[in-house]
Amino acid sequence: MNRLKSKEIYDKACQVIPGGVNSPVRSFRHLKMPPMIVESGKGARIRDVDGNSYIDFCCSWGALILGHAHDGVIDGVYQQMQKGTSFGIATEIELKIANKIVSLIPSIEKIRFVSSGTEAGMTAMRLARGVTERPKIVKFTGHYHGHSDSLLIQAGSGVAKLNPMATSKGVNQNIIADTICLPFNDFEAVRALFRSEEASKIAAVILEPVTGNMGVVLPEPGYLEMLREETAKNGSLLIFDEVITGFRLGLQGAQGLYKIDPDLTCLGKVIGGGFPVAAVGGKAKFLDFLAPLGAVYQAGTLSGNPVAMRAGLETLAIIEKKGFFEDLKRRTDAMTEPLKKSLANKNACLQQAGSMFNIFFGLKKVRSKEDLKQLDEEMFIRFFQFLFEKGVYISPSSHEAWFMTSAHSDAEIETAVNWMIQFIEKYV
Ligand SMILES: Cc1ncc(COP(=O)(O)O)c(C=O)c1O
Repeated sequence: MNRLKSKEIYDKACQVIPGGVNSPVRSFRHLKMPPMIVESGKGARIRDVDGNSYIDFCCSWGALILGHAHDGVIDGVYQQMQKGTSFGIATEIELKIANKIVSLIPSIEKIRFVSSGTEAGMTAMRLARGVTERPKIVKFTGHYHGHSDSLLIQAGSGVAKLNPMATSKGVNQNIIADTICLPFNDFEAVRALFRSEEASKIAAVILEPVTGNMGVVLPEPGYLEMLREETAKNGSLLIFDEVITGFRLGLQGAQGLYKIDPDLTCLGKVIGGGFPVAAVGGKAKFLDFLAPLGAVYQAGTLSGNPVAMRAGLETLAIIEKKGFFEDLKRRTDAMTEPLKKSLANKNACLQQAGSMFNIFFGLKKVRSKEDLKQLDEEMFIRFFQFLFEKGVYISPSSHEAWFMTSAHSDAEIETAVNWMIQFIEKYV
């Protein structure tokens, strides 16, 4: 595989962009290889600047549920662009997509659009603090809610460690002192916290109800119900970060699947149809704390941008059609079922929720970030490199879900599965 032009562009980019990329994982440094420089995408395939073609199972980190450059989305966006691209003034299309989401997700009575999942998480957290007038936020190790200071917290297990380390330099201790980090799927850790004297200070619990950011990890039976019960009893808000799972695990996301009614929901990725859109939605009595009605400030020049809204609206109109998610699941199972079989006697496992899935090497089951200490990172790197050479692109991180789209054909799925099985049988 010739990747000379990619290498050349990357080297030049390193002169003017830190690490050559605008989001760290794109650099492939952890994969010990020069990154892909993509030229174009259509359907399930992307093409790099050297002309190599890849079947893409990352698809903009789950944002592109219809695949790349979907004709319907592109047509809508093109029409919208003719009318102007940004006004910083309210438009009717914002009402249309707000109505659509409110009609689809029962827990969302009102919604505020922003431009990134980071903003959505940050806004939800600020809102929860404003509503409850309490300082503390509870999150779970391995769950990612964007890179705002308070939510950028590393592992810190159990109630004993109430002052965890920040993940990044530059995040002040006094800011993260108000974030409590617990291990996911640990019932007792949550109950102990809500019995402690910290309880009266807890504004909210935020979580990925099904995680994507430590690979696909499902909540244990009863876990989400327990969180709902404990937060409600304590007067704390329950925030579901469905930036990945929203409109991916079905039209009601993870909350529909598990029948939980969160107070606030963060959305992103799919609702932008490949454009920078995210949102915070929830009960009207909470959303009305946002300015201009309330005293919790939030704003954005490009929030609710009409072109981005149109891409989201076109996407929702397609995935809303009967049978969309059943078909997506069928495609995903065509991939995961043979993979699960080939992994049965290996020291690895595949975890899946709907159309998101991934293989964990070195582990037979993953329930929390703490389990990932045994993850075989080297095996993942070899697997990634092997697939890349064969023209199959999975999410370039051992800690991330892979995504199916409605654009992946049976033949593309079969090709990818065959390469994966070949690797598993030979090396795992
Ligand atoms: C669950 C979750 N929340 C928040 C974010 C942050 O979104 P963004 O990258 O748009 O800031 C992500 C990004 O992957 C995410 O997966």
